[in-house]
Amino acid sequence: MKITVVGTGYVGLVSGACLADMGNDVLCLDVDADKIAGLQKGRLPIYEPGLERIVNQNVEAGRLHFTTDVKAAVDHGTLQFIAVGTPPDEDGSADLKYVLEAARNIGRHMTDYKVVVDKSTVPVGTADKVKAAIAEELARRNVQGRYGVVSNPEFLKEGAAVEDFMRPDRIVVGAEDEQAILLMRALYAPFQRSHERLIVMDLRSAELTKYAANAMLATRISFMNEMSLLAERLGADIEQVRKGIGSDPRIGISFLYAGCGYGGSCFPKDVQAIIRTADGVGQSLKVLRAVEDANERQKSVLIDKIVRRFGEDLSGLNFAIWGLAFKPDTDDMREAPSRVIVGELLRRGAKLQVFDPVAMDEAKRVFGPHDGLTFVDKNMAALEGADALVIVTEWKQFRSPDFAAIKSMLRHPIIFDGRNMYAPELPEAAGLEYHAIGRITAASRALLAQGTIA
Ligand SMILES: NC(=O)c1ccc[n+]([C@@H]2O[C@H](COP(=O)([O-])OP(=O)(O)OC[C@H]3O[C@@H](n4cnc5c(N)ncnc54)[C@H](O)[C@@H]3O)[C@@H](O)[C@H]2O)c1
Repeated sequence: MKITVVGTGYVGLVSGACLADMGNDVLCLDVDADKIAGLQKGRLPIYEPGLERIVNQNVEAGRLHFTTDVKAAVDHGTLQFIAVGTPPDEDGSADLKYVLEAARNIGRHMTDYKVVVDKSTVPVGTADKVKAAIAEELARRNVQGRYGVVSNPEFLKEGAAVEDFMRPDRIVVGAEDEQAILLMRALYAPFQRSHERLIVMDLRSAELTKYAANAMLATRISFMNEMSLLAERLGADIEQVRKGIGSDPRIGISFLYAGCGYGGSCFPKDVQAIIRTADGVGQSLKVLRAVEDANERQKSVLIDKIVRRFGEDLSGLNFAIWGLAFKPDTDDMREAPSRVIVGELLRRGAKLQVFDPVAMDEAKRVFGPHDGLTFVDKNMAALEGADALVIVTEWKQFRSPDFAAIKSMLRHPIIFDGRNMYAPELPEAAGLEYHAIGRITAASRALLAQGTIA
């Protein structure tokens, strides 16, 4: 099939490359000329496991192309995927300007039947706006164009995006147009050979499904984070609680980890956007407001622990930071807890030596030059001359460190672990003071005994 993907970011590039890998003829469009020039030279704008190989193979095979030429992109695909960003507007609602601009471009240039597939995460009712934007452009040109609009929200996870796209749990298709549904079934057939995973529904339900999914996942995280705060005060261990409740099939074991807050390009903005959507129709979402509040509080939990240990003024102290990306296996730092943690430590006068396996360039762009901030190229190098270690992202390469070496390198042998990476006995056996999130450690026991848990 001939497919155009509008927007060549995390979702657009992964979708385009995976669709090309199934034998489709894919043209990816972006307004960012540098991004397209880089891709044309084989340079990927993002880090995503397995993506570079699949992009290069399909470019070589002649099935995957990149362009900034809007007209060529509209001409190319019968299926026009919209995968542009939907960032938060000033009030937190999703800003649809990129989606509607993409739709208008299709209306401006289309000359034959098109199926316009919305893959961006968009508020309920956007398909109607996309339809109207195309109709308006066709009317301006005084032509009758035939087109269908489909909602096909994307559920891929950054860090496992290629795998998720290739082996989806479900493919949600919201549509009214029979021809469009047939095309979508044919397109996705190769991705679900063992059993049907395509769920066809009406447009509005498909649009809401995406927000409901992210809102539910964010709720699980905030719930566990809140339980971890309670566990600390009660002398219970959140990891034991996690196993205890996760074994109930009604709850399930996945996505129940306490940590230093969720971030990324999706949960924060999608939770905000659905709250605004609900406000707009007079239906206040009380649970999700609490989810947001709990997450904001959680981003300062590590800071609270550091301040409790070292005092309000951190000047003269030097912290090693492991992990800056909002989660492992990505270089994405949008809304990452590291932004809050690094910012607050610097504000309190600390110096930081920071390391992330892939997000260093992005981190330099995000934080800019700062006297107190040194970027180092190895996790152990961050420890040199540092007072304590702060772990913000749970990269695999941090899972089995040499605790004895950490102890010998740190001026104060202390780890503040925002991701509960270790069984407390391990760092403690090496003589390290270990602070985690909602876990029973020697340090949490001592604080509890003194009655000083914040
Ligand atoms: N990143 C994720 O993990 C993820 C997962 C599921 C859904 N989503 C949703 O998918 C959408 C895209 O997210 P992303 O993370 O890929 O965004 P992104 O910012 O990485 O990419 C968006 C791209 O669209 C381009 N663009 C903007 N306007 C354009 C236009 N008119 N024509 C062509 N290109 C245009 C931008 O230059 C950018 O390269 C969002 O709605 C997001 O919520 C993201």
